Amino acid sequence: MKGQKNVIVITGGAGGIGQACARAFKNQSIIITDYSQGKVDETIEILAKEGIDATGIACDITSKKDIEKLTQYVADNGSLKALIHTAGVSGTVKDLKKVYTIDLVATELLVDAFYKLAGTDSVAVLLSSMMAHTVLANEKYDEALANPQGARSFDIVSQFVDNDSDLMYNFAKRGVQLLTHKNADKWGEKGARIVSVSPGVIETPMALKAAEEHPERMEMIKQATPLKRNGQPEEIADVIYFLASDAARFITSTDILVDGGVIHKIKKMA
Ligand SMILES: NC(=O)c1ccc[n+]([C@@H]2O[C@H](COP(=O)([O-])OP(=O)(O)OC[C@H]3O[C@@H](n4cnc5c(N)ncnc54)[C@H](O)[C@@H]3O)[C@@H](O)[C@H]2O)c1
Repeated sequence: MKGQKNVIVITGGAGGIGQACARAFKNQSIIITDYSQGKVDETIEILAKEGIDATGIACDITSKKDIEKLTQYVADNGSLKALIHTAGVSGTVKDLKKVYTIDLVATELLVDAFYKLAGTDSVAVLLSSMMAHTVLANEKYDEALANPQGARSFDIVSQFVDNDSDLMYNFAKRGVQLLTHKNADKWGEKGARIVSVSPGVIETPMALKAAEEHPERMEMIKQATPLKRNGQPEEIADVIYFLASDAARFITSTDILVDGGVIHKIKKMA
């Protein structure tokens, strides 16, 4: 088996954007991973009913041990074409350390682990957020965000977020973008690419939860969106499919904003 098929690995594969990605890559070898084996199996079953073949393994992305198991599973099943990293939590999780650890520290753990599997034409696509674009560049926290495993990283960033989990989410997602810049040379030496995608409001379980918490904010965002609607998971998956394809072979170390045009309006209002 080793080295034969090109595999597409989707973290957060049970989630809204993760499942949409599996559908976009339906004719390729897909490996789904998510927090629990139950979620993975359920997703594989849903996809099978639609005629999409996928295999999978559970991985808590905050656990180095689980990530080791995942990368071994991937290596046993083929060679890495794409890591599509959609697993994450929103600011509705009120534990700031948890948001930072899942959304940023774990992203670096995955990038480091998958670097070992990357070869010519492999690509890592990391999910950031349009809200990362509201966090300005600042040398005081950017160094910490770009090095999230550093002993003081969380404490340094915490000084700027006023104990607000939504703000911590925005900072963590800026960190995701900084990780693409930090790793681009290393990946590039292998002929591999690393990029991020920043969705706007996309109608998935994550966004619906946030909408319950802040209905007025979500309505304001929709009205401010030039396209006057929220996005659908398939609209992110289509961009990710492009980024993983040969058509995007000169795109690396950058972020692609897919937000219906709203973030420029929000920044003006702030
Ligand atoms: N939906 C939006 O409006 C939106 C907007 C901007 C950015 N994003 C980003 O896109 C990505 C996907 O979002 P979504 O809307 O599909 O969310 P979702 O909640 O539908 O899916 C996220 C998945 O991540 C998994 N996950 C969470 N913690 C995990 C962990 N420790 N280990 C393994 N898996 C874990 C969850 O089980 C879930 O299946 C996220 O990174 C999110 O921050 C989403």
